[in-house]
Amino acid sequence: MSVHGVRSLNVVVGITGGIAAYKAVSVVRALVLGGHDVHVVATENALRFVGRPTLEAISRNTVHSDLYEGVAEVRHVAIGQAADLIVVAPATANTVAKLAAGLADDLLGNTILASTAPLVIAPAMHTEMWQNAATVANIATLRQRGVTVVGPAVGQLTGADSGPGRMSEPEEIVEVALRTAAGRQDLAGRRILVTAGGTREPLDPVRFIGNRSSGKQGVALAVAAADRGAEVTLIAANLEVDVPSTVRVVRVRSTLDLERAATSAAQTADIVIMAAAVADYRPETVADAKIKKDVQGDVLDLRLVKNPDILAGLAANRRPGQLIVGFAAETEPDDAKLRQLGAAKVARKGADLLVVNRVGWNEGFATEGNTVIVLNQTGDIVGEASGSKRSVADRILDLLPHSI
Ligand code: CTP
Repeated sequence: MSVHGVRSLNVVVGITGGIAAYKAVSVVRALVLGGHDVHVVATENALRFVGRPTLEAISRNTVHSDLYEGVAEVRHVAIGQAADLIVVAPATANTVAKLAAGLADDLLGNTILASTAPLVIAPAMHTEMWQNAATVANIATLRQRGVTVVGPAVGQLTGADSGPGRMSEPEEIVEVALRTAAGRQDLAGRRILVTAGGTREPLDPVRFIGNRSSGKQGVALAVAAADRGAEVTLIAANLEVDVPSTVRVVRVRSTLDLERAATSAAQTADIVIMAAAVADYRPETVADAKIKKDVQGDVLDLRLVKNPDILAGLAANRRPGQLIVGFAAETEPDDAKLRQLGAAKVARKGADLLVVNRVGWNEGFATEGNTVIVLNQTGDIVGEASGSKRSVADRILDLLPHSI
């Protein structure tokens, strides 16, 4: 029995030569603890970063790296043929290029080519390499062939620099890999509407009042739902992240735009997830031309008027059987009070579930991870999740079918 209740799998973990190879040890460990039989195939360069004894002790199996060992048992194809799942973590830019080209100049390349198992890769490289046109094209090729690409995350890289390129956290890689292997399509046939990002309320043609939401949690929900078979529409307000083509995207800017788009898309949705950070107020008037200092003088008075509560409106006018999930962003530091605020909010808005997360200068918004509690209509905690935004997304989706 494994962590996800799927059968015990024969998993090949391919490790290639990048600094993030040290994190591959945690990937191997999580898979072993999940009850899976893990076989590490490392490139020679990977073994410069992490030692064979470590990998053998953690995987509880011999580590393979040499194409010319075990020739009599045709090991270069046997390992791949026996695999139920192959996870390459980290996948360097060089490995990504080799996989895209179908090269088999080492044991890992042969193993992958000889296998029909699902392939999950976790790229790790410097931002410039990740954004290089060659890598972009290689990743697109691999995705087209059905390879699952996890990450990379945005964050601190090996040197002083930071940006996209950092390998996703081991727990996320394992989560996605096991789901891919299980081919879990538990949301097949469901139409899900997700809103994400932060609305911007125009003041004049060049200025707006906005908030710090990046849209990452909402996009993670949309992508996870699509991966699990749902037909997803994402209403995207000023996102700071890319959205893969598995998700249909409707772009909006202001709260009133979002309200129009959401009201229309909700008419055909089975599940509505309001993850967007919606502005509660908007400027009463929007200037046709740029507001000028010499006209305004030393003080500029702004009059704001209340925006419609989109979530409450959708809940009040829901289709029969439609499930409505809201989010609550709160700065309250005390756990008990946070829950009370959530309980009051879910009742006030009429949502079926409310995902409560704490936000602040350094929490929630624009970060890689998230910690949430999920409340039902009566304010009881029905779930909790902490980890990458993708794993939090999957936990939230796990709660949905049981709540309808
Ligand atoms: N929401 C909405 N329309 C608004 C404001 C919020 O649909 N005008 C939705 C958000 O998308 C989220 C939920 O309501 O799903 C809660 O948002 P939040 O900002 O936490 O709550 P507020 O309504 O702003 O309440 P408060 O001012 O008490 O924080």
